[in-house]
Amino acid sequence: LRAVVLLLISVAVGLTVGELDHGYKGYHIYEVTPKTLEQSQLLHQLSLDGYDFIKEGRLLGHSSRVIVSPAQFERFVKLVKSEQIAYTLLNENLGASIDEELALLKLQRRMNPITGKGRLSTERYYTHEEILNYIDDLAVRYPSRVFVKTVGWSYERRALKTITITNGDQRKGKKLIFVDGGFHAREWISPAAVLYIIDQLVEQFEQNADLLKDYDWIILPVVNPDGYEHTQTGTLARMWRKTRQPYGACYGADPNRNFDFHWNEEGASSSACADTYAGPTAFSEPETIVVRDLMHSLSDRGVMYLTLHSYGNYLLYPWGWTSDLPDTWEDLDEVARTGAEAIENATGTVYTYGSSTNVLYIAAGASDDYGFYAGFNVSITMELSGAGSIGFNPPVTRIDEFVTETWIGIRAMAEKIIEKY
Ligand code: ARG
Ligand code: ZN
Repeated sequence: LRAVVLLLISVAVGLTVGELDHGYKGYHIYEVTPKTLEQSQLLHQLSLDGYDFIKEGRLLGHSSRVIVSPAQFERFVKLVKSEQIAYTLLNENLGASIDEELALLKLQRRMNPITGKGRLSTERYYTHEEILNYIDDLAVRYPSRVFVKTVGWSYERRALKTITITNGDQRKGKKLIFVDGGFHAREWISPAAVLYIIDQLVEQFEQNADLLKDYDWIILPVVNPDGYEHTQTGTLARMWRKTRQPYGACYGADPNRNFDFHWNEEGASSSACADTYAGPTAFSEPETIVVRDLMHSLSDRGVMYLTLHSYGNYLLYPWGWTSDLPDTWEDLDEVARTGAEAIENATGTVYTYGSSTNVLYIAAGASDDYGFYAGFNVSITMELSGAGSIGFNPPVTRIDEFVTETWIGIRAMAEKIIEKY
């Protein structure tokens, strides 16, 4: 009897654990391409109904990608068929793809540990701790040009540190470019690109001295370290987007819907379990408070705010809360176009540029709108390249290609900024 009871208990536990930790087994990814406005609106509605759109294209003919769970599968296929929306199956078992990728990540960490101090390669993804150690080390090695400061703490008490990069001339009140990454946990290429920017400005200083002559750069590599670390813990967690503060039975707010500027008006969810949860109030997350306070403390000399996300190859400028354009939209457009053209000329990768609402979708409470409102002349969200089975997981063999491509765009935009402001 005892054995039977134990068996029953373990089956019950196994079942609940299995249910909770579905591990994306049997989940599909579809690419859908709307051809009419109606189809595009219908797809957008799905994203508000709990479908996870890992890439959204709003313009007609631009493709979106959506994760479809076994439970959603029937309804989804029925809908796209009856609406005659073109769709293709990209991935038949998301769980298996993620398992493979995480196994690789572990292997790469073991084969390619950080030995001593020095540059970080683009050969793998790094932990938040490795990133902090790296910038701390830079400050020690380049004491006249690099300054690291703890500007706050994440919900789980990870340090949020900025690295300020100068040319060492100690001039006060220089103009400033503010860059951040890692807002969304699963977008691993974003912190990787930030590391490359830091490498260029610090270690490749001679080649980039023009970018630091009249400007300082301040960089916050990982805004949402709790989420970033969470995505490295297991298959189910790999697709995590939000912060990690608990809200009832669910976790986290979307940090990019949590800013107090038209907060929770459009394109955000009031449901704590949703991926685009705006939070119970604006600035409910310690991480967004840190970014807000940085923005206000820097805005009098801040010319450009740049936030790195993935993926989709977009250069987006305000507004994201309305389809109206700001008065200075032509300046914003010129900067974004400069970045897009530089990348396309160098690599052939096409970046679409325009206002967030007009080229992507309406979504209020994001950091780009807030930075612009707070006084930065130019504010840009860059959606980098995607690759791998889910797009958020470029194989490590392509990190270098993606971060160098990103830098080409950022460098061109910075040059334009320096010329214009
Ligand atoms: N993919 C980004 C997000 O959903 C885009 C943000 C664009 N900016 C905006 N204000 N809507 O957070
Ligand atoms: Zn993002």
